[in-house]
Amino acid sequence: MNAVPVVERACELRAALDAARRDGGAVGLVPTMGYLHEGHQSLVARSAGENDLTVVSIFVNPLQFAEGEDYGTYPRDLDRDVKMCAAAGAGLVFAPLTEEMYPQTPITSVAVNGLNAVLEGRFRPTHFDGVTTVVAKLFAMFGPGRAYFGEKDYQQLAIIRRMAADLSMPVEVVGCPTFRESDGLAMSSRNVYLTAEERPAATVLWRSLQAGRDAVVEGSRNPDEVESVMAAVLAAEPMASTDYAAVVDAATLDRPDVLAGELRLLVAAHVGKARLIDNLGLDVDQL
Ligand code: PAJ
Repeated sequence: MNAVPVVERACELRAALDAARRDGGAVGLVPTMGYLHEGHQSLVARSAGENDLTVVSIFVNPLQFAEGEDYGTYPRDLDRDVKMCAAAGAGLVFAPLTEEMYPQTPITSVAVNGLNAVLEGRFRPTHFDGVTTVVAKLFAMFGPGRAYFGEKDYQQLAIIRRMAADLSMPVEVVGCPTFRESDGLAMSSRNVYLTAEERPAATVLWRSLQAGRDAVVEGSRNPDEVESVMAAVLAAEPMASTDYAAVVDAATLDRPDVLAGELRLLVAAHVGKARLIDNLGLDVDQL
């Protein structure tokens, strides 16, 4: 396996991308916060299949963590990450220091209003503005090309799509399916926080989503009813404490009065020290 070069500076990233584009190559970006797993690797492999050069950015972005969240303890292992990038087909890793991304405290921020305030935004009110600000910076450093994001963070994907459209960014945002463990738990860097006892309990998010989907498949078109079904599954797991169980329109993230068309079921819960999120898509017209 070829080693993947690692650059720390935005000017080095730009030079490599400009050279690839000059040669007529298509370029792909996979933004991450590192501590990679097979879910991240599936994004890298998808990009490597669709582009001539794939860049993985690895940066734990302080702006998207609130006071009291896990910025300081977020797991980090750059050497292992670089090997995993190579194995998945990346051509370059961009691993900037905090001073490179934020040489001065930014007083400019990007906010996708409305979408940033619902669901996750109710529990993490500053989170998405931190995400959109850093992703806007990464897109500016990256330039024209494709960028790959996981449906695992469905609201984040919807927000980034909208940001790119509203600000005419020359980046095609590509959404990729959620990669799961064999028991259904969505892969996440934060799964390492789970103890051996908590790990089986963490499948409750996936079980609640499936129960919500089953309720719709069996004929329920009432969002209250479907949300109650999901909430009941979560509540039955003593190790989990629920933040929300919601069903929304897949495109607008609005809560419909009657379930129709493309929907997204979303759940968030704490299991021990880990705050976990998961979601599932469903098209009522295809049932
Ligand atoms: P991070 O949590 O490291 O995730 C990086 C990318 O991997 C995101 O697009 C996320 O949705 C995707 N991903 C994570 N777990 C996945 C899984 N199990 N299956 C498929 N894709 C998965 O999301 C972030 O970092 C940050 O907010 C970032 C966008 C990098 C901005 O800082």
